[in-house]
Amino acid sequence: MGKHLHTTLADRFKYFTSPIRPRPDDIEIVRQQLSLLNKPARGILLGVTKELVELANDEIKMIAVDRSKDMIEHHWIGNNSNRIVKLADWLELESIATNINFVIGDGIFNVIDRKCQHQLMDCIRNVLADDGLLIVRVQCNPVVRETIKEIFENTTNNFCAFLSRLVNSICDSNFEVRGSEIFNKFKEYVTDIDIARFRWTKEDISIIEAHENSSHVITFLTEEMFTKLCDQHQMKILSKFNGSYQLSERNPTFIIRKD
Ligand SMILES: C[S@@+](CC[C@H](N)C(=O)[O-])C[C@H]1O[C@@H](n2cnc3c(N)ncnc32)[C@H](O)[C@@H]1O
Repeated sequence: MGKHLHTTLADRFKYFTSPIRPRPDDIEIVRQQLSLLNKPARGILLGVTKELVELANDEIKMIAVDRSKDMIEHHWIGNNSNRIVKLADWLELESIATNINFVIGDGIFNVIDRKCQHQLMDCIRNVLADDGLLIVRVQCNPVVRETIKEIFENTTNNFCAFLSRLVNSICDSNFEVRGSEIFNKFKEYVTDIDIARFRWTKEDISIIEAHENSSHVITFLTEEMFTKLCDQHQMKILSKFNGSYQLSERNPTFIIRKD
């Protein structure tokens, strides 16, 4: 098996910006929701998202779970009495903690394939207490896909906004896309003249290069499909929030509880 995408991405991950990375208004939503939980609260962070780990405190304890040693080495901000990291697959959550008050994550349902989405939703349901919350930002596909011409018409210097729209538009009929396909389409559609015109940097482009030959599949459901995924696993969306930044309308944070 080839390397996981996040192994090749680990040292370039710092070049990701919004909307692929969360903005302060996204983090504020999670902070507010966690502040409403009965204290002390304990939960799981899926991934090592720095801004989310920083929400841990004496009353809100977190275990971060990530299967990539490289991502942990590059991005984990350090264990202390309120937060620790575990190297493990999300599908093994039940061996890490159960009856917890929250599960949080950013883009976690995007970095896995459709089959794994179902397995992950079950795992999350199994580790949450009955009144526990799943708080998750999901990068959603628009109902009507953009053409490459439309994408270029509204493109700016924000490389990650371009990449996000491109990746949404090239998902297959199962709403999945392979890393290598992202690399190939980028090479097909984007010229050096475009890169110069939008003033994208070599660091921006290095994100794309990490996808070359990657068989890793990522997924961009529509909001309606994500709602259905929750329903299928007896998880109920209580509310939804959008930030106020470029493409925030496609990147809602959902507050979810067991049905
Ligand atoms: C949380 S996601 C998305 C990134 C997010 N938008 C952010 O900026 O934090 C990225 C992380 O998911 C991890 N990951 C993906 N699939 C996983 C799995 N099945 N088990 C554990 N970690 C996984 C990757 O190793 C990577 O560190």
